[in-house]
Amino acid sequence: MARVLVADDDEPIRRLLTRVLSRNGYECDEAADAEEALAQLERGGFSVLLCDIDMPGLSGLELLEGLTERYPDLATVMVTGTDDTEVADAALERGAYGYVIKPFQPNEILISVANALRRLRLEQENRSQQARLEEMVRERTAELWKAVSSLEQAHEELRASRAETVERLSMAAEFRDDETARHLQRMSRYCEMLALRYGFDVQRSELLRIASVMHDVGKIGIPDSILLKQGSLTPEERRIMQGHTEIGHRILDGSRSEVLRVGATIAYTHHERPDGHGYPRRLRGEDIPIEGRIAAIADVFDALTTDRVYRRALPLGEALDTMRRGAGTQFDAKLLSCFLEGLDEALAIRAEHLDPDR
Ligand SMILES: [Fe+2]
Ligand SMILES: [Fe+2]
Repeated sequence: MARVLVADDDEPIRRLLTRVLSRNGYECDEAADAEEALAQLERGGFSVLLCDIDMPGLSGLELLEGLTERYPDLATVMVTGTDDTEVADAALERGAYGYVIKPFQPNEILISVANALRRLRLEQENRSQQARLEEMVRERTAELWKAVSSLEQAHEELRASRAETVERLSMAAEFRDDETARHLQRMSRYCEMLALRYGFDVQRSELLRIASVMHDVGKIGIPDSILLKQGSLTPEERRIMQGHTEIGHRILDGSRSEVLRVGATIAYTHHERPDGHGYPRRLRGEDIPIEGRIAAIADVFDALTTDRVYRRALPLGEALDTMRRGAGTQFDAKLLSCFLEGLDEALAIRAEHLDPDR
């Protein structure tokens, strides 16, 4: 049965309360003032505090201050001679569960104590349910985070393997002529660098980097006799060679993968020129997709600034002059000046991916 602490400076009242409660199965202790009550509460085990308001020393209201925080499993019922709604409000506000006015009928006390206990139990249940709920939310959140982070990791791996697959497949085409894996690395990084400088967001720039690796994938369809020919090509051979743009486009176009679709665009348009003298479609100006205009600058810059089997790299100044002369005719002028503003970055990329054997 519940233990009740009766705190009242009036001994006869204390006795009366104790008797009424004991007879109804409660276990009671007594305190003659607030200090004594606090000392008893400190020892623990009480479910209900019946508390007088007017006591010498600390009043009942002062005793009540902070009591619910310290003893969340204690229900306090005020017993007082003061029939004053303001005092009653103050007591309830401080966490009292009930308010009984003297003189009282024994039944009033029993009903108040029983009500206070019932409410206490509901609140305890509520609290433990709340705690269970919070625990569940914590667990679920932790699980969710675990799932999210493993998903992110899988996504990261997928991106890396996608980039690697594209790089390896494109190398297969490039290995057939003089261009090297390093050319693809440098050229695709120039593309990414230029895209970022031009204002593409990180994602779109990365997409361009991966997709641009495939710019010459169509060379896979060019006969060795032309692709590997030493010396200049006949007009017919040149026409076939130029077909690598259309072949690349046909290989990559119509995919559900965005990276392959962008790759198709770049393969198709990286030899177009703003002045309309490019190939295969002789597109002009902004009819050339921006991905193709970017790739053209990156591809030619790398061709001019690195050694090839048939010729050595131009001195940097000469290469830059050649590029500048093509502004507006061979290259999109705005993109070219954007690229040249980032020259330091381009040179850093070149230094990082130099062909070791040339
Ligand atoms: Fe090409
Ligand atoms: Fe190339």
